[in-house]
Amino acid sequence: MYAFEQLKKETVKVLAAAGLKGAAVEIPPENIDADLAVPCFSYAKSMKKSPIEIAKEIAGNTKITKGSIVGTVVAQGPYINIYAGDSFYKSAVDEISKEGNNYAHKKPAKKTMVVDMSAPNIAKPMSVGHLRSTIIGDSIARIYTSFGWKVIRDNHLGDWGTQFGKLIYAYKKWGDKKKVERNPIPELLALYVKFHEKSDKDLTLNDYARNEFKKLEDGDKENTKLWNWFVDVSLKEFRKTYSELDVKFDLWLGESFYNDMNAGVIEEALKKKVAKKDDGAIIIDFGDKKMPPFLIQKKDGATLYSTRDLSTIKYRVQKFKPDKIIYAVGGEQSQHFMQLFKSAKMLGYAKKEQLIHVGFGLVSLPEGKMSTRKGRVVYLQDVLNKSYDIAEKIIDEKNSDLKNKKNVARAVGVGAIKFNDLSQNRIKNILFDWGRMLSFEGDTGPYLQYTHARACSILRKAKAKKAPNFEIATTKEEKELILHLSKYEYAVTIAAATYEPHHIATYLLSLSHKFNLFYQKCPVIAEKDARIKNSRIALVYASKQVISNGLKLLGIDAVEEM
Ligand code: ARG
Repeated sequence: MYAFEQLKKETVKVLAAAGLKGAAVEIPPENIDADLAVPCFSYAKSMKKSPIEIAKEIAGNTKITKGSIVGTVVAQGPYINIYAGDSFYKSAVDEISKEGNNYAHKKPAKKTMVVDMSAPNIAKPMSVGHLRSTIIGDSIARIYTSFGWKVIRDNHLGDWGTQFGKLIYAYKKWGDKKKVERNPIPELLALYVKFHEKSDKDLTLNDYARNEFKKLEDGDKENTKLWNWFVDVSLKEFRKTYSELDVKFDLWLGESFYNDMNAGVIEEALKKKVAKKDDGAIIIDFGDKKMPPFLIQKKDGATLYSTRDLSTIKYRVQKFKPDKIIYAVGGEQSQHFMQLFKSAKMLGYAKKEQLIHVGFGLVSLPEGKMSTRKGRVVYLQDVLNKSYDIAEKIIDEKNSDLKNKKNVARAVGVGAIKFNDLSQNRIKNILFDWGRMLSFEGDTGPYLQYTHARACSILRKAKAKKAPNFEIATTKEEKELILHLSKYEYAVTIAAATYEPHHIATYLLSLSHKFNLFYQKCPVIAEKDARIKNSRIALVYASKQVISNGLKLLGIDAVEEM
């Protein structure tokens, strides 16, 4: 058990001995000067005393043995305030140095999670929405992996559907192989846009497109070959982006993977009377005014996104027996997921608590709105490149002799984008404000990376390869920093339970603030007293470790110099 949990436990014991059984220990808000607190209101009735009297009496009765991790207990109005003792600070720092990269990473949990993330559409550019899904899904995957879960990242590519009929038709009619090879996604997108322009005027084009898709579904050789080619060239582009983002997938089972299952699922739904025929189509009707029916087969017999998602659940549950399937998909699809989860439950494919939609808000870019149908797009790669450029300029100004400048600029550029996303409540819309995101001073990714690099630089100067043993905390700044360090596991636990990585992000920001305050107030290398000096080096070490562990859970590279 880590020091912070121990402090809570020990507090309960000490208070029980003083006459307050089963005290509900709380973490006070930042502006309250106490490490832990117990509000006494709820005991007034049973103890037949006012909360103020209770606090005073219990604090007065408290006996603390020498060397206890509980330091002092004082009454403040109706509250009992608890302050950590010296041995708390020592265990809190030493446990971090001892466990290093594994600190706060639990033993195998024997649980499995599938994370449905990224899922861009073939032959279209990956959008900033897919970027959010990739970043949020990856962070959740990292958090649960750190808690010992087996996590499977699955890229449910949009590689099937009637749009491929349109694309095949357009390519056959207007396409140029060389052009597509040279510049695949923009060229394929242009063909798709052209199709929409023409079909707005000539509706028969839609019938031709439908026919091409039907041929693809029936395994026509030429169409299958074209489709495979579209998939290959698109994946090549996507993989490049993933590698820059440092995101890896375990599976790439796109929608097309489920083709052979869909007919069976529809049949099963009809047989179980979960679905019914409706004017030639097949729907799942929930008999609920608030939830419209779920269309799973069109009049022309074609399957849909919804059908393939139902097959996907059936497959994943049978194959991986996951405790949870997480869908990191934009909030605009929340109705789809409500219908999907309810249908899956009615069909007996999965239990309600296994399926979780982790939604998120939209992104506004200074470059403007996207619409793939109209060809107005922002290419993700351009967004990344822009971030690298700005980062490089800033680094040039700050530290122009830095080795590996290009690599650091990439890490900072990607870090800024990820942090901008993960530091806010995910359901909110986010804004790409380049100046703010990349600033080294605000609440940004670069600020955290910079704090980490500063800690590394102190350790280099102190020639500390290993953390010295921590002995003593002498100032308020040190104590506050250590107390905050000890709450790391707590922050990660909340982030996991809520699927909200921003709890880790905000934790790291206040850790960095506290670290920088400590660094301003407390000399480290210049300190004369060897015990204090070593303890401060140990504290720098532990701070660096926790920042790096936390950044890792956000998928942000903790650079050592910048
Ligand atoms: N390809 C879809 C889109 O771009 C996202 C798929 C999300 N995953 C899922 N299982 N439905 O909107």
